Amino acid sequence: MEITLTGITTTGTPHLGNYVGAILPAIEASRRTDVQSFYFLADYHALVKCHDPALVHRSRLEVAATWLALGLDVENVIFYAQTDIPEILELSWILTCVTAKGLMNRAHAYKAAVAENMTEADKDPDKGVTMGLFCYPILMAADILMFNAHKVPVGRDQIQHLEMARDIAARFNHFYGEHFVLPEAVVDDKTAVLVGLDGRKMSKSYGNTIPLFEPEKALRKLIMRIKTNSLPPEAPKDPDGCTLFQIYQAFATTEETAALRARYASGIGWGEVKQMLFEYLNERLSEPRQRYHELLAQPTYIEQILKQGAVRAREYSAPFLHKLRHAVGIRPLQK
Ligand code: TRP
Repeated sequence: MEITLTGITTTGTPHLGNYVGAILPAIEASRRTDVQSFYFLADYHALVKCHDPALVHRSRLEVAATWLALGLDVENVIFYAQTDIPEILELSWILTCVTAKGLMNRAHAYKAAVAENMTEADKDPDKGVTMGLFCYPILMAADILMFNAHKVPVGRDQIQHLEMARDIAARFNHFYGEHFVLPEAVVDDKTAVLVGLDGRKMSKSYGNTIPLFEPEKALRKLIMRIKTNSLPPEAPKDPDGCTLFQIYQAFATTEETAALRARYASGIGWGEVKQMLFEYLNERLSEPRQRYHELLAQPTYIEQILKQGAVRAREYSAPFLHKLRHAVGIRPLQK
């Protein structure tokens, strides 16, 4: 059976951009019965970016609760925390020993950090660069190769990491025999990239997001803050390039979108569009929002779901790691 696998880094509170770009398509895919899907919380990856224990802890809970509140089918997919699968770290080291340093030198995130350092007065290329950041793609390769995933749904920014995982897998296979499938990135061109409050891409790093489960009042306030131009209500408006329209479109049906487009053409006030967008989002989000808050109050239940997922995942990872250790020569001394 085809295996698909994807990781969700547990940093920060999920926002509308995450929802339309990654969460929604993944939850829809979680109901497929023709593939075996693995979805996991990349909580070891979270340590690369975040050294605040309270935040790391809170974010795991929030991300897991979000996915469950939105209807992730945990009977069908194997849903677990990376940190509950010790075999992944063990594999990560084994892979580290076949990975060329030169390959890691080329990673975009690492290169960006170095380039940023070089713009500063002391020009220290290594400033703030941990080995965790440098080796991030190896850990990610271990996540994927541990379960011999064929397909890995990811955002465009992760394509290079998948190429690296293939490189590392091929190198291991070359030394030790054909153990790994070469994984493929699946990038969905149709999924929307949402624009944030200020008109730039919605992203935690720009601080321009709309958190998915913001309480009703705060949600309304954020939507009212979205930047628009200063055209008067009666003036015809261009929906393309309008943040309000784009967010609406990401949620609405084709017919609903066409109807709003017509209203833009005949003139509609920004206040009215904002109110309409708020009501539309609020109606769709209020039910999962309530479930989300109920789940946040049941951490023991969430933990139990993750642990059950880990048991299922380890049915694959434990025997496979045993085989890999054997392949590299870590075997019982006696024949
Ligand atoms: N690096 C991914 C991201 O930032 C998260 C991730 C970690 C991942 N391990 C993975 C994604 C394995 C897919 C497969 O989005």
